[in-house]
Amino acid sequence: MTVAKRSFGNTGVMVSEIGLGCGGYWGLRSFPEQRAAEIVDLALEHGVNLLDTGPNYSGGNAEPRLGRILGGRRDGVFLATKVGSRLERGQVVKDWSAGGIRASVEASLGNLRTDHLDLVQLHSPSPDVLENEGTLGALAALKQEGLVSFVGLSTDSALAARAIELGVFDCVMLTYNILHQRDSERVARLAEAAGKAVLARSPMAHVVYESSLFRPTSRARIWYLLRALKNFRRDVAKGRSLRFLHDWKGWHGPHAALRFVLENPCVTSAIVGTTDPRHLVDNLSVSDGPPLPADLLERLRGVDP
Ligand SMILES: NC(=O)c1ccc[n+]([C@@H]2O[C@H](COP(=O)([O-])OP(=O)(O)OC[C@H]3O[C@@H](n4cnc5c(N)ncnc54)[C@H](OP(=O)(O)O)[C@@H]3O)[C@@H](O)[C@H]2O)c1
Repeated sequence: MTVAKRSFGNTGVMVSEIGLGCGGYWGLRSFPEQRAAEIVDLALEHGVNLLDTGPNYSGGNAEPRLGRILGGRRDGVFLATKVGSRLERGQVVKDWSAGGIRASVEASLGNLRTDHLDLVQLHSPSPDVLENEGTLGALAALKQEGLVSFVGLSTDSALAARAIELGVFDCVMLTYNILHQRDSERVARLAEAAGKAVLARSPMAHVVYESSLFRPTSRARIWYLLRALKNFRRDVAKGRSLRFLHDWKGWHGPHAALRFVLENPCVTSAIVGTTDPRHLVDNLSVSDGPPLPADLLERLRGVDP
């Protein structure tokens, strides 16, 4: 089974329609590196070529861990990371200055053991950053020097729409899942019309529809539950409206959630985070799996009217 590929905007560069999120629990020191490597290797074996990470993911351990795991393997791998926020003594510091952008990219190159990054994304910028000539100039220079192939931003839909209008970004990363549909779809259509790539973050909607989320059986699961309760409380509450997924014949929640995202042709890649090889393989099977039945799609549509 090989995951299908889609064009990265109108660039013609092909990326897997399911990418691997290399952050969160996957990147933490408490998650053994050997198991993290098993996930990456399995993903690459099945044709996943888009790996997404960030300098401040997993307490700063995600990028160097991914670099060690890849060990310079670069052929066919599309490496995406973030810029503009870094960790200082455990605190996230935002730095959109030209110097800060360059220093961050150089550090990422070192961490990831490579001489170029395929995609660098502004990590949750404030609106004024999009008007900041220093930031935009630094990104343009890094592109010109060949250190970075494409630039994008990971943000909410209002700012993503503005970024698409500006025309200087190749890609937008949006929260897009069964709980967050309409706003992201509007922006994804704008992006597609402008020839830009769209990465869907949190495509599994943090599996708030899975009762197992609330009965954690491992340290990873406890971490996911605490993260959901701390950062995604509204999603957790909204998850109740997805209980019908438990009883839907022939489908289970994660498949339906991922299929929903992949059925949007404006989405270039759904970036899924996982620490479980069985989940990874299960998710990849959605790529060449059946479409959502019309009645299930209609029910899912009703969750975010
Ligand atoms: N601001 C940003 O830049 C930003 C923000 C959010 C996300 N992202 C990107 O998007 C990636 C993914 O985001 P995310 O981790 O928030 O959300 P997600 O991928 O929607 O959800 C991850 C959760 O889904 C579970 N899962 C995955 N496949 C499963 C399956 N088949 N069955 C049951 N559970 C399954 C994982 O648990 P297991 O480990 O047990 O599989 C984990 O709890 C990140 O790693 C990052 O690359 C970026």
